[in-house]
Amino acid sequence: MTDTELTSSDFTESAEPFRLFAAWLKDATASEPNDPTALALATVDTDGLPDVRMVLLKGFDEHGFVFYTNFESAKGREILATMKAAMCFHWKSLRRQVRVRGPVEIVTDAEADEYFATRPRGSRIGAWASKQSRPLESRFALEKAVAEYTARHVVGEIPRPPHWSGFRIVPSQIEFWHDRPFRLHDRIVFTRTADGGWEKDRLYP
Ligand SMILES: Cc1cc2nc3c(=O)[nH]c(=O)nc-3n(C[C@H](O)[C@H](O)[C@H](O)COP(=O)(O)O)c2cc1C
Repeated sequence: MTDTELTSSDFTESAEPFRLFAAWLKDATASEPNDPTALALATVDTDGLPDVRMVLLKGFDEHGFVFYTNFESAKGREILATMKAAMCFHWKSLRRQVRVRGPVEIVTDAEADEYFATRPRGSRIGAWASKQSRPLESRFALEKAVAEYTARHVVGEIPRPPHWSGFRIVPSQIEFWHDRPFRLHDRIVFTRTADGGWEKDRLYP
């Protein structure tokens, strides 16, 4: 049996985290009513005060977990100041949780451009019109900004705003959690070793 065929009951046998994550995300995509890629993204501000909000996972491989946002938003500024973050997926239908933490990289311009081009036109306009996380005087002011950028881009491609791109969390730790009866849950944590491999531990629930 390969890792991608692991089931919820034998996931603790997995030797590495990425194929297991792929298998769990596939299960979640089949079972969650919406947004199987939604995750809580944790950052800290310059006072060390934690902050958290939902974003969507837009890609992952053995290099890390990618999401996109406005780099001038609260999360953008917090990550750019620390280059560290953590994320948590909770798939309620499966009673599973995955936690990821580690240093953060900025995706390449080519990677961000490629993803930006796949977004609906309205979302690309929105990326220009929204000064994400900053005070907005009225809904009308936002609609006016959308109308202005729409008029500016009536024809042709909409370029990616310079303040909009992707971050990749490069995991130093990935933990898989699965509900078991009487709160005796399974927890398996993978920790990156100095040689780039993974050490695997089971944790008390
Ligand atoms: C399910 C869900 C998915 C979201 N996905 C994103 C996303 O991928 N990128 C993003 O910038 N904001 C996303 N948001 C909005 C963020 O939660 C947040 O409101 C916004 O990014 C501002 O956060 P900040 O002020 O902490 O920077 C999402 C919200 C929800 C509820």
